[in-house]
Amino acid sequence: MQIGKSGIHVFYSQPTGDVCCNTVVLNGREKILIDPGLYHLWPYLEKAIEKETLVSPKDFSLLIYTHSHPDHMGAASYLDSAYGMPQAMTQEEKSYLEGPGQSVYSWFGVDPPGPVISRVLKEGPLEVGDRTLEIYLTPGHTPGSVCVFEPREGVLVTGDLIFSRSFGRVDLAGGDPKLLSESVRRMEALDARAVIPGHGPSVIGKDQVRNNFHYIFRLLEECGYM
Ligand SMILES: [Fe+2]
Repeated sequence: MQIGKSGIHVFYSQPTGDVCCNTVVLNGREKILIDPGLYHLWPYLEKAIEKETLVSPKDFSLLIYTHSHPDHMGAASYLDSAYGMPQAMTQEEKSYLEGPGQSVYSWFGVDPPGPVISRVLKEGPLEVGDRTLEIYLTPGHTPGSVCVFEPREGVLVTGDLIFSRSFGRVDLAGGDPKLLSESVRRMEALDARAVIPGHGPSVIGKDQVRNNFHYIFRLLEECGYM
């Protein structure tokens, strides 16, 4: 599904019963992939991406992870060995992946990825081809999670920080409810026109995005997280 008019595509998690994530493709002069998901579902996703965008895996010049959980980066080692595109996450997340984040891989029954991260993401503008993205460090679900904002279209890719009418779990290793609440506050201030979360449906429209933030703040308050 395309969101906006400038080549932003979202591929919703395949209905196989597996816990997998939504994947985002930014198609332009350079092609960017965000959160490829689980290894064994990659063949389906690859086909879906090619069908909708005519982009093949070898065309991606950058792969961004919102965070390191296996349902978002399980395909990392395969993509590295098959295509060798640069793969990026924050230093905070890389350290987490090499430390306490390993426990989430054991819990999923999936091998953690090898040393695939060749670029470190930092908060601030990220120029790729004809696009300038804004990277925000938004800890809470994990210590080095990011949100990716595409300002031209007002599209915010939130990973597992927030979803439609929900927020990311904070009970896994590295989770922190207070940090998550602060991160949600920061993302509300962006005044996005669309939210693409890591799981479930997108939230489209300025009013809908605003209402979704208000709903999530109520939930966070009810949980005593803010
Ligand atoms: Fe996650």
